[in-house]
Amino acid sequence: MEFVRLRKNRRTQQIRDLLCETKVSVDDLIMPYFVIDGMNKREQITSMPSIERISIDNLIRDIEKIRNLGIKAVLLFGICDNKDDKGTESFSSAGTIQRAIKAVKKQIKDMVVISDVCLCGYTSHGHCGIVEEHISDSDHQNYIINNDKTLEILAKIALSHAESGADFVAPSAMMDGQVRFIRDALDENGFHNVGILAYSAKYASSFYAPFREALNSAPQFGDRKTYQMDFRNSNEALREIKEDIKEGADIVMIKPALSYLDIIFRAKHEFNIPIAGYNVSGEYSMVKAFCQTYEERCQEMEKSLISEILISIKRAGADLIITYHAKEFAEYLVGK
Ligand code: PBG
Repeated sequence: MEFVRLRKNRRTQQIRDLLCETKVSVDDLIMPYFVIDGMNKREQITSMPSIERISIDNLIRDIEKIRNLGIKAVLLFGICDNKDDKGTESFSSAGTIQRAIKAVKKQIKDMVVISDVCLCGYTSHGHCGIVEEHISDSDHQNYIINNDKTLEILAKIALSHAESGADFVAPSAMMDGQVRFIRDALDENGFHNVGILAYSAKYASSFYAPFREALNSAPQFGDRKTYQMDFRNSNEALREIKEDIKEGADIVMIKPALSYLDIIFRAKHEFNIPIAGYNVSGEYSMVKAFCQTYEERCQEMEKSLISEILISIKRAGADLIITYHAKEFAEYLVGK
């Protein structure tokens, strides 16, 4: 007979494991955390079951747990209650995120700390940059986001994180030149060893909605389409990544991950640099909502879905995955 029996290679679980091409390990995972002020605080985020806003003491407790599961890196976001139109709180040395970075690096020395560098959580208008010429009427919102003024602030934020002990800073504002500007500021201040994980191809995506609830950072007018990327494009993403590499990025990120596996794939083939995929808040919430409909089979369903999702991001070409599932996936791996 003239056909190949490919099923031989899938006959038993042992054979399948032997021939498996893609594995996700704890070494690949980065767990995000939302940090708030105060002591012993945990606040639920309605749209993200099991993810909370936590105070620094609880952050340390939670990070100790994931460290014991083998996770090596965290991505920290600070929550700010003291917002203004320029996001002044973002680079305060006594800010929540700065104190959180210091506490983690002091108490859990070997944990790799990556910090998000952006303005949207700190500005009263919720944009990732400095807003100018804002004129609003019932039909139109006219405003510009001043790229170069924003760069000055992003550099200050990055420096404040480096001074607090961050291993990598992660600029996510999608301003042109942000990686070069931050690299220069870090080097001029002696932070040659602080790396840059660049949110290089960050799309204007509705998948960020739960995150914006967590940070209370939704734009109060307009949208992010003049700085974040148009999801109809992929060549543009490669251009963004290329420029960030030239500007000094150490790791480049594609975000979101799941609807953008083609971008991860192309970037992996085009560039020789570590690639991170960000499995974002909306992707997380969709899994949780879907699994809840399975009631008593919920956990089983979650486990197989999460494995499929994380492996697909890795299979597409991501070396690292930032995911809110990191802790639960690490628990599956140790058989909990
Ligand atoms: C800040 C930032 C956002 C996310 C990470 N950094 C939100 C946004 O751009 O609106 C989204 C992360 C997620 O959805 O999990 N600019």
